[in-house]
Amino acid sequence: MIRLAGVQDLRSVASLYHRVWHETHGSHMPHAEREARDEDFFLGRIAGLMPNVIVGEDEGTIVGFVAWTGPLLGQFFLDADARGSGFAQRLMEAAELTLRDQDIWEAELHCLVGNARARRFYERVGWRVHRIIAEPVKGDADGEERDFWVMRKRLA
Ligand SMILES: CC(C)(COP(=O)(O)OP(=O)(O)OC[C@H]1O[C@@H](n2cnc3c(N)ncnc32)[C@H](O)[C@@H]1OP(=O)(O)O)[C@@H](O)C(=O)NCCC(=O)NCCS
Repeated sequence: MIRLAGVQDLRSVASLYHRVWHETHGSHMPHAEREARDEDFFLGRIAGLMPNVIVGEDEGTIVGFVAWTGPLLGQFFLDADARGSGFAQRLMEAAELTLRDQDIWEAELHCLVGNARARRFYERVGWRVHRIIAEPVKGDADGEERDFWVMRKRLA
């Protein structure tokens, strides 16, 4: 089942976000950034994204979510067991329909350079790499950055 998140879902989504971010992104980030990102960090972040959060459930358990701010699709995370199942595509379709309902006709996302599986998925569902940008991360030294693919899709 795919539906908008409610306040009752915040803890489950934050827990998933925390678990999957550390699994798939943590090793590419500086130690200081990993240390800063405990479960409360993700709870604060996801609460700040409401009401633009859609969750996917399997037998009552949240196994994935997508979230956005304006036209920027900032979060797309699935638990390992839900990957490769077609679930991501259904979650993306729900997000794109909701964005269109919000009168957003072109959306953008930033995907960590090197995350080949995510890029492949996004391209398969119609997103295209537009350019690469460096974004600041909480580094072990001042001024640390990581490169991200800026991907866009027209939703019309
Ligand atoms: C990114 C994500 C949402 C995609 O969902 P998914 O269910 O894994 O996507 P799919 O299996 O439908 O598609 C992934 C594609 O990458 C391919 N793929 C799988 N592993 C790969 C790898 N290591 N390198 C490159 N491509 C890979 C798959 O074959 C598939 O391509 P295909 O459709 O041509 O066969 C999911 O993997 C995820 O949540 N990952 C962890 C969090 C994350 O990285 N989020 C993105 C943040 S920008």
